[in-house]
Amino acid sequence: MSGRVKTQYNLGIPKVYPNDTIRLLNERASCRNFLKKKISPRILNRILESGVHAASGGNLQPYSIIKIENAGVKHAFAEKCSQDFIEKAPVLLMFCIDWRRLQRWADLENAPFTATSSFRHFWISFQDTIICAQNICTAADALGLGSVYIGTVLEMFHDIRAMLELPDGVFPVVLLCLGYPKSESPKRLKFGIDVLVHHEKYHEIPDDLLRTAFSEKYSHRSFEITPERLQMLHEVCRDSRSPEFADRCIKAIEKQGFINVAQFIFGLHYSAHKMPLGNEDFLKIMQQFGFNWFSSFKTG
Ligand SMILES: Cc1cc2nc3c(=O)[nH]c(=O)nc-3n(C[C@H](O)[C@H](O)[C@H](O)COP(=O)(O)O)c2cc1C
Repeated sequence: MSGRVKTQYNLGIPKVYPNDTIRLLNERASCRNFLKKKISPRILNRILESGVHAASGGNLQPYSIIKIENAGVKHAFAEKCSQDFIEKAPVLLMFCIDWRRLQRWADLENAPFTATSSFRHFWISFQDTIICAQNICTAADALGLGSVYIGTVLEMFHDIRAMLELPDGVFPVVLLCLGYPKSESPKRLKFGIDVLVHHEKYHEIPDDLLRTAFSEKYSHRSFEITPERLQMLHEVCRDSRSPEFADRCIKAIEKQGFINVAQFIFGLHYSAHKMPLGNEDFLKIMQQFGFNWFSSFKTG
């Protein structure tokens, strides 16, 4: 690769789009600020119908969408996810992998069934669920609504199961807030296709271009050094890698005079030492939801 990497979605791409679909896809942004206006059942059904027409492995559609309009349930999501705007959205959609429906069908039809014990089925159904969700986001945009995914539901799997009465074989994946935007949502900078698309084979971009690409994406942002941040970064680096690495990180920060975006994201925001914690608990939770593809399975 030579020359300058185009790191931003709006560099080099004309602002005039060939049609509204391309414009919507290029100008989409998450919406976290909703009007009180309700979504009519007619509009909501139209949006949902656009989602369920999405591609699906084997066309099995192993997912369910729980539509939530109840104020108490929305409040519980907002509180548990520590994100107030969630309850302001007129509709929440909880996207779940759902092998229960297919299992019941297989049982009724005297057919064999092992999908909840199969990583292959899990892998594909996760994709099916998200693809449907994304089509719903695009349909919502096309009808003048806005949406935002909420991934922190993974901190409240058991609460979700109880609140939404999810049976075995139904696993919550992601929540979507849906509503009419109060104002235009700010557009986030994206990497350009020069960074994300590889020709025929995987090609690493050189280090200097890689740093430039990230730096431009994050608008050359930096974070002030404070004693608390330095202490936390030292702990995170030490616990996730080694005391030597922790010293190296702090020295680099002192030399550059600020905390850079990568250090902020992986050291202070998604703290590297904590992120892998609880992996086993997540597997246990999956098992409690009726999924056990990670344990050995014998047929017959
Ligand atoms: C899987 C997933 C989980 C997300 N979880 C949250 C969330 O919990 N809260 C939130 O405000 N935004 C969440 N988002 C939205 C992202 O923050 C957003 O997509 C990102 O900042 C880029 O902004 P844009 O969507 O406007 O392009 C999530 C997005 C995805 C795809």
